[in-house]
Amino acid sequence: MRSLIVYYSRTGTTRKLALSLADELGADLREIGCKRYRLGILRYLRAGYDSVRGNLPPIEIQFDLEPVYDLVLIGTPIWTSHPALPVRTFLTKHSVPEGPVGLFLTHGGHSPPHEAIREMEILLARPADATLVMNENDMSDSRVSGCVKAFVKKLAVEPVV
Ligand SMILES: Cc1cc2nc3c(=O)[nH]c(=O)nc-3n(C[C@H](O)[C@H](O)[C@H](O)COP(=O)(O)O)c2cc1C
Repeated sequence: MRSLIVYYSRTGTTRKLALSLADELGADLREIGCKRYRLGILRYLRAGYDSVRGNLPPIEIQFDLEPVYDLVLIGTPIWTSHPALPVRTFLTKHSVPEGPVGLFLTHGGHSPPHEAIREMEILLARPADATLVMNENDMSDSRVSGCVKAFVKKLAVEPVV
């Protein structure tokens, strides 16, 4: 079972989840880079503005289009109730290989995740096989580890031993 995790993280929260999932699954990791929203208050404001308007930014990612993976996981923070823009760019520009797909999202606790999940499923052109949503304020190591294990179980894949 070869698994791939593609994710974006501006401040490290979604990265923490991605790393824990990669550890559990022995998955390959690809982080989406996006210079437009690097740290700083002005870039934060720009991210919010662009997110509402749907202005997709350029991204950097090394992504094999070859369908060599049995499972693909896509991770994103929620921005203005949407998936973060770099992930929207990724899903708009790349087709994710057929097969099971899981979504993991982090948020600040001030919007329900359903719209962002639905938007990702529309961009993927298929429903997710499992989703994991975590509030950034409730992401202790033990909670992340428990949620990751439950998510992997839902995906019906074997963890790495
Ligand atoms: C531009 C922007 C918009 C955001 N919009 C929301 C939102 O609509 N709802 C929410 O709960 N959190 C929102 N957040 C908070 C992030 O989802 C949260 O901090 C997330 O865990 C950050 O993940 P990261 O550290 O991987 O970038 C927003 C953050 C940013 C930067």
